[in-house]
Amino acid sequence: MRVGGRPYRTLWVAEDGRTVQIIDQTRLPHAFEVAALRTLDDAATAIRTMQVRGAPLIGVTAAYGLALALAEDPGDASLARACDTLLATRPTAVNLRWALETMQAALGDLPPSERVDAAYQRAGRLADEDVALCRAIGEHGAKLLEDAPRRGGAVLQVLTHCNAGWLATVDWGTALAPVYVAHERGVPIHVWVDETRPRNQGASLTAWELLQHGVPHTVIADNAGGHLMRSGRVDLCITGSDRTTATGDVCNKIGTYLKALAARDNEVPFYVALPYSTIDWTLDDGSRIPIEERDPSEVGRVRGRVAGGAVLEIDVLPEGSPAANPGFDVTPSRLVTGLVTERGVCEASREGLLGLYPERRAETS
Ligand code: MRU
Repeated sequence: MRVGGRPYRTLWVAEDGRTVQIIDQTRLPHAFEVAALRTLDDAATAIRTMQVRGAPLIGVTAAYGLALALAEDPGDASLARACDTLLATRPTAVNLRWALETMQAALGDLPPSERVDAAYQRAGRLADEDVALCRAIGEHGAKLLEDAPRRGGAVLQVLTHCNAGWLATVDWGTALAPVYVAHERGVPIHVWVDETRPRNQGASLTAWELLQHGVPHTVIADNAGGHLMRSGRVDLCITGSDRTTATGDVCNKIGTYLKALAARDNEVPFYVALPYSTIDWTLDDGSRIPIEERDPSEVGRVRGRVAGGAVLEIDVLPEGSPAANPGFDVTPSRLVTGLVTERGVCEASREGLLGLYPERRAETS
């Protein structure tokens, strides 16, 4: 996607063939900065501190993190330690585990002398594959958007939560890929962007990338979505997912569940877009998904630009009030109208998913 008219991915390998470059998402929207990852620790820190975030991008960054670790030491112990370090960075998005398992399967049997080049190649293929998967999600989802009934007029009103755009993937995004494809095809579209407290991925990231691409949008407080749905101003909701069970339960950024409840009460279709790497075929029940508990200080502290240009953090809680910060919630499959994947759209159910991924039938009961 384009930034200032120039095409970018969210991460790429520098000309030295080893350093991994990322867009530092903790600096957006007030500064566009590229950061360099040179070691395993750099990659683990980038994921933990959310310089890179979003389920698919976390997975691909972890794959490159392994390559960086092997460039320092290609031995078996180093490979195992790097996997453990990366796996511990963020618990909810299953793409992290999937990417590490994919890399281990490709590298584990190779002699150490061949591992570094193979790791960079495999990670590169995962990055390219992510772009293709997201573009395919965009194609399938765009048809849904084109066909969706518009309640209020010619412009399709879409509501999204968090950032499941190109910044959350290598390119295109999951939930926003259909929006970009539909926009590219001339479908008149407007996006309601949930701010997504406490870290404001909607206000800081989704708004920024939609702005870069000229997609009409409006940022709303998280609490406004129900009111907008009740007043007929939302035609369709679409979000991403950090982990989807084999039965179609969806774990996504905290607050997604409330939007799904409001959508159901107002008969607004609620779609979730995800690539196959986000499906956890080992789980039948969303309540078993590990929910990341983040630092409570994120709830009490807001970052923003003040008059004069400086970017500061301010405290919004009274000193002494405790805060809690669960990072994700689970939306049960019954509230999900459909799952949009790279293979098409299906019902959020075991049979729906197996219809698109029949090769997984043996793994699920
Ligand atoms: O905590 P984050 O910012 O990594 O959470 C991101 C989300 O919840 C996204 O909606 C999800 O990863 C789907 S991304 C394409």
